[in-house]
Amino acid sequence: MMRAYAIDAAIAQSATLPGKFYTDAEVFEQSKSLIFNRSWQFIGEQNLVRLAGQVHPFTLLEGYLDEPLVLTKADNEQIYCLSNVCTHRGNLVVNYGGQVKQLQCRYHGKRFGLDGCFKAIPEFKTAKNFPTAADNLPQLPLAQWGNLLFTAINPLKPFASFFGEMQNRLQWLKIEDLLYQPHLSRDYLVKANWMLYCDNYLEGFHIPFVHESLNNLLDYGSYASEIYELSNLQLGIARPGEACFQLPPESPDYGKAVAAYYYWIFPNLMFNFYPWGLSMNVVKPISASLTKVSFLTFAYSSNPMQDFIASNLDKVEREDEEVVECVQKGVKSYFYQAGRYSPTMEQGVHHFHQLLLKFLQAN
Ligand code: FES
Ligand SMILES: [Fe+2]
Repeated sequence: MMRAYAIDAAIAQSATLPGKFYTDAEVFEQSKSLIFNRSWQFIGEQNLVRLAGQVHPFTLLEGYLDEPLVLTKADNEQIYCLSNVCTHRGNLVVNYGGQVKQLQCRYHGKRFGLDGCFKAIPEFKTAKNFPTAADNLPQLPLAQWGNLLFTAINPLKPFASFFGEMQNRLQWLKIEDLLYQPHLSRDYLVKANWMLYCDNYLEGFHIPFVHESLNNLLDYGSYASEIYELSNLQLGIARPGEACFQLPPESPDYGKAVAAYYYWIFPNLMFNFYPWGLSMNVVKPISASLTKVSFLTFAYSSNPMQDFIASNLDKVEREDEEVVECVQKGVKSYFYQAGRYSPTMEQGVHHFHQLLLKFLQAN
């Protein structure tokens, strides 16, 4: 079934993904193991575990992957991301955040170090071939960029393959100074498939039609997208007189009036860098027709423009939501099969669709 979908590598002659791709229950289900388990996901800021012995249980992509994990900080200050599932009979090991000396499952008392290594369990003296490595809590890979932590269940490629292009291009940016602003952050529930939300993000084609106020800030004629292996960039150039980055000479964009870097990391992370900070969007599938999008705001300091930032982001998001929810209705139509890509404005969407099929059709 999955093999039936195809995208032509030449954008000028390719049809888009068909409407039924977005409503296909098999695509939605298989995307868990083939796309989301195989890519890097955002955990939160490193100060979730500030002190040695601190633990922070969490669920990776709640409502979709539902993978129980726990972040720990060991005595040597190293942070670990572990499976939070007891290797005895599968109880959740850590139920609450706090500070502990070791991890102890409260079902039958199995104990682990803060690095996940098995320590002890009562009533197992006569057990044969015990313990083995399978008694440790599995350790997940952990990556850090500034204060931001990421993990992956079974990554297809290392962190750098997904994030390296963005990190290199923005080497001059003081990512570690960005502080999470909970009062400027919020979740949106969008009545549409998560891939439609991403499709919309990945093109600036709709900006003059959907976002009147944003269109006044950006120079549509200078719009460009750059495609990398597992990420892409849309460079927003400011109209004369509008706010832009003061780029240092070492930036490859030195001399350009960059208003925003819109980075997308496959499959569901969006990093929107503005002169005031970062708006990160985490796209979380809930069902084939419902998506939660977390807008997380990180700023350099308490900024007098905060209210302006929040209301602007909210306005643009609502404009996007409205159109994406209409597309959700449209792709189900009897009459809609598939469309075509604009070769100049929809390279990002074409790239996304190719990656979706590459992951879904792997092996
Ligand atoms: S399930 Fe954890 S000790 Fe039994
Ligand atoms: Fe938009």
